[in-house]
Amino acid sequence: MPCDTNDEIRASLHDHLAWWGLRHLESDAAYFAWQKEVFTPQELAALHQHIEAKRTATDGRAAEIAFYDLTANPRSVPALYSQRYEYYLQVGSRVVPHFNGAPSVLDVGCGIGILTTFYAQQHPDCTLLGVDRSPASITLARQRTLDVDAQPLAGQFDLVIATHALLQAEQDPGLPSRDWSTFERSADAQVQQEFEQRTGLGVRLDRLRAGLTRYGRMLVFEKARQLARRIPFQRALAARHLHLLAPPEPVRYRSVEELTDDGPLYVLGVVPPPETLVWNELPEPDGAASLDVEALRSVRTQGDEPLYENHESSAELAWMNLASKHVVEQVTHGEPDGRRLHAEWGRAGDFRYLYCANSFDQRQLVVVEPARGAILKTYYGEIVRDIQSRGKERS
Ligand SMILES: C[S@@+](CC[C@H](N)C(=O)[O-])C[C@H]1O[C@@H](n2cnc3c(N)ncnc32)[C@H](O)[C@@H]1O
Repeated sequence: MPCDTNDEIRASLHDHLAWWGLRHLESDAAYFAWQKEVFTPQELAALHQHIEAKRTATDGRAAEIAFYDLTANPRSVPALYSQRYEYYLQVGSRVVPHFNGAPSVLDVGCGIGILTTFYAQQHPDCTLLGVDRSPASITLARQRTLDVDAQPLAGQFDLVIATHALLQAEQDPGLPSRDWSTFERSADAQVQQEFEQRTGLGVRLDRLRAGLTRYGRMLVFEKARQLARRIPFQRALAARHLHLLAPPEPVRYRSVEELTDDGPLYVLGVVPPPETLVWNELPEPDGAASLDVEALRSVRTQGDEPLYENHESSAELAWMNLASKHVVEQVTHGEPDGRRLHAEWGRAGDFRYLYCANSFDQRQLVVVEPARGAILKTYYGEIVRDIQSRGKERS
């Protein structure tokens, strides 16, 4: 039965996932106990081998297809795909309300069709096609096999859905910032092209864009939360005149052994909306405490705890605004691939601080009492030694 409210959609999605044999397990221990019941140690070893091959392969295509073929075994599906239970819940419930009566819909990289079959159930009047390049996944989904890297789409679609299908290259760090002191990326077209080529994103987006009708829309949800990946990903979408129809929506869900910050979900259209939404290339607000140096005087800490510690991007602003800053030692290091790392320690009025920053958006600021300054000096020394040993490894 198609649903109207978000609660109804989620309730239906629970039923749907149960129909696929998936379980919503409350704890990691319960999950692993189930996995042990289902798989032999040899099967688990083969699975981990495939995961590793997919992660490290230089040409990921063959390793990726082999991995998805292996997991698309009906006996394995419930125990393996239950790892993604909350992912399905979050993504499925967000995608369903965006169909807006689209007559023809494509779910590209649909896998074994867990979400595709849910969309079909929720929107019985639309023609929904799922395509994937993993033959075993498609056999299970009983839809069509197609590798969008190799072939254009046959036909045109009013809505194309791509969830975890376009930017799989998880090992690709993305695009570094221009320097350790900024989050900005250069607008170098060649660097962007290289990113699109090595991740396979460019050709996939071109194919999907060409398969959209005149008023077509796209729903895209990929692992692009880190700024270094988000920026070139967004630039690739914008360059194909895919316009934002709603602010991108970040999504958080639990998977086995971790809390995952994923997405964002992009709702895109060929036709721009009346009021243009700008592509945001700034770090996400991180909720770290802002720094009031005067207030540090009354802070009481225990053991080795610093007076202030910030490992988020807002550490940059806190560092820039440090009152009476005096740098004692600093080092800036450049890797041959253009990545940059900076570390410094010094005095901020009566206090001592250590600041580290790199061109992959990592920032860290620690402030301590003067009596603890030696600890920061030691950390700083370790960073310098680490930089030196990396230099030696290369030479
Ligand atoms: C992580 S699964 C995601 C499945 C589903 N979209 C979901 O959200 O659960 C990624 C799928 O994308 C498929 N895929 C990756 N690249 C593809 C390509 N170039 N053409 C077609 N399918 C592709 C893989 O075979 C795999 O089944």
